[in-house]
Amino acid sequence: MTDKTATLGADGNNQAFPVLEGTVGPEVVDIRKFYGQTGMFTYDPGFTSTASCQSAITYIDGEKGILLHRGYPIDQLAEHSSFMEVCYLLVHGELPKRAELDRFTYTISRHTMLHEQLSTFYRGFRRDAHPMAIMCGVVGALSAFYHDSTDITDPEQRMIASHRLIAKMPTIAAMAYKYSIGQPFMYPDNSLSYTGNFLRMTFGVPAQPYEVNPVIERAMRRIFILHADHEQNASTSTVRLAGSSGANPFACIAAGIACLWGPAHGGANEAALNMLREIGTPVRIPEYIARAKDKDDPFRLMGFGHRVYKNYDPRAKVMQETAAEVLDDLGISDPVLDTARELERIALSDDYFVEKKLYPNVDFYSGVILNAIGFPTEMFTALFALARTVGWVAQWNEMISDPEQKIGRPRQLYVGATQRDYVPVDQRG
Ligand code: SDX
Repeated sequence: MTDKTATLGADGNNQAFPVLEGTVGPEVVDIRKFYGQTGMFTYDPGFTSTASCQSAITYIDGEKGILLHRGYPIDQLAEHSSFMEVCYLLVHGELPKRAELDRFTYTISRHTMLHEQLSTFYRGFRRDAHPMAIMCGVVGALSAFYHDSTDITDPEQRMIASHRLIAKMPTIAAMAYKYSIGQPFMYPDNSLSYTGNFLRMTFGVPAQPYEVNPVIERAMRRIFILHADHEQNASTSTVRLAGSSGANPFACIAAGIACLWGPAHGGANEAALNMLREIGTPVRIPEYIARAKDKDDPFRLMGFGHRVYKNYDPRAKVMQETAAEVLDDLGISDPVLDTARELERIALSDDYFVEKKLYPNVDFYSGVILNAIGFPTEMFTALFALARTVGWVAQWNEMISDPEQKIGRPRQLYVGATQRDYVPVDQRG
């Protein structure tokens, strides 16, 4: 809290509202009493200027292209951390000591299996069901199987549910992939790393041993870390809003998955690779740049632009470097990467993108890597959901523990009909 105030009102009725400051970043005007004091609502439909909560988990400076998780820069975590270490950091607030990391990793490994009956749940889906449709359904259904961790008032149950969600998402995502290609489900192998376990469940078959490729394991680890959390984005805000009603954690995460699916959000990684493939060769880039700039064309460059970053998304930088490394290490030359690089070069020298500060975001290069590893584009957003689950869980726990937390219930600017009387149908002319 500062002793500063901001004055706001109308028709001569100006009121003072407290200004609150965080440890870093913009101060906020506390308008919780604004309606009571002025009889007016504030209006911010896309929440472009609205802070919905206090949080200590992730800090983004959009102008400088900075992303910190509990204070640690994303590029350092992507370079040096394991995903389990980042999960511990996001959930508990500090980098774990060796014993803490070992205990956390062991705990997560003990929750990687799904209730066996859930495998029949998959059989209710068509084989060509989008993996995100399956993820929404299966994750929401977890509350029907894990009743002993749905009491959100019990910190211990909250932590068990958190561990279960972090641990089971790789199994659920891998099973969605296996189901889509008609191969048998693979059970987890807890002798492998979190990422290695996921790769084996996805690409291994019961008929023969599966050797985890260290190049791919390192790339997947980085991709999971780059997607782990990102402040109050749309899907995290969805999880918080669902959680604010007291809904169980599995239902809240299922709501987050549903929101992430949109092409403006997590669905952009699938859309970006499809767009790059549609462009085909650099020769056609100007045509798509022109479409992206055309106000009458709903087309947007997928993987470009961001609500917060008005500079290069720091995750996109790491993703681009990783894409080049993985293709090189795997001996793959994918023309899509050349198209992506050329598209970025042309866009970033075009006044439209420069003026609107549109840069590649986390979704622009990720598809190149995931495609090289062997994932179909339909799985890309499911992988985003897998990795983001720890961020959703950390933010959900923080919200539940926040003494200022109450049910989220926005108001509106009403523009509909004023009161009028009912007219019987045969008198309606
Ligand atoms: C993610 O919030 C997060 O943190 C999300 C995320 C996370 O980790 O959780 O970072 C993950 O969702 C990344 C974003 C993935 N989405 C895409 O790549 C889809 C393409 N991008 C756009 O749809 C858009 O940039 C958004 C949705 C990402 C951001 O939209 P905003 O903040 O609402 O910005 P806007 O739509 O108001 O755009 C501002 C201007 C507009 O022009 P004007 O109306 O001012 O003339 O920029 C233009 C837009 O038309 N614009 C684009 C563009 N993105 C914005 N023009 C062409 N191509 C684009 N990609």
